[in-house]
Amino acid sequence: MPTGERIIEITGVAYSYPGAPVVLEGVDLVVKRGERIGIIGANGAGKTTLFHLIMGLIRPSSGNIAIFGRPVRKERDFLDVRRRIGFLFQNAEDQLFCPTVKEDVAFGPLNLGKTAVEAAEIVQRVLQILGIDGFENRISHKLSHGEKKLVALASVLAMDPEALILDEPTAGLDRETKTRLAELLSKLDLTVLATSHDMDFMSRITDTFYGLDEGRLGKTDLVIPHTHVHVHPGGEYYHRHDDEYPQ
Ligand SMILES: Nc1ncnc2c1ncn2[C@@H]1O[C@H](COP(=O)(O)OP(=O)(O)OP(=O)(O)O)[C@@H](O)[C@H]1O
Ligand SMILES: [Mg+2]
Repeated sequence: MPTGERIIEITGVAYSYPGAPVVLEGVDLVVKRGERIGIIGANGAGKTTLFHLIMGLIRPSSGNIAIFGRPVRKERDFLDVRRRIGFLFQNAEDQLFCPTVKEDVAFGPLNLGKTAVEAAEIVQRVLQILGIDGFENRISHKLSHGEKKLVALASVLAMDPEALILDEPTAGLDRETKTRLAELLSKLDLTVLATSHDMDFMSRITDTFYGLDEGRLGKTDLVIPHTHVHVHPGGEYYHRHDDEYPQ
């Protein structure tokens, strides 16, 4: 796998939603092949906005974005981007639009020209990887929040992407599923750009962190404070150890 190739290059990007204050200004970011970058920021800091700019769902107010070494400005420039970079939406419902799980997950591969038989094999494989085999005929919109997230991720992995952009991949997932997902994602030989408010998860799937604050993106060498669960009697759930709760 060639390394050093610039998968994403953002230079001096600013963005404001129409009639609203500035969300991003002077943002620079380079993501090279094989890198695993985490974006950290408070609610409303602009993380989702940044990801939507990369995927071409919105266009910068100023500045430049190049993906796979090519400037991307028009809708047609992003067709190749969306084929090669798998984007997991923060809200899984934005990703699922077919009646059943198997149709949702097969949609991308069929669009890429796979046969029905090949697409069915891919559906089986990714559902199994994510531990949701047997979900094929479930009705997508009737799934639980966490189940929808997993199916949305299955639809992303089914495209066999070169890079993943993950917007809050753990929201709604239980602890065991999060752990399984972290293991899976850390083993994939892919470029990753992700955000999550779960620092434990972030530190497992990414290794370089950028902070987004007041519209500015900056590299941070911070040691990421995160909670972790350890097991002892009564220790299954997140809890504190201090003077108040010495157990
Ligand atoms: N469609 C929109 N129109 C106007 N303002 C918007 C729109 N979408 C987002 N915003 C605003 O832009 C800012 C950045 O939102 P964004 O969703 O990018 O934040 P975020 O960092 O992803 O937050 P979270 O951690 O809650 O997901 C917020 O102030 C939000 O209210
Ligand atoms: Mg967001």
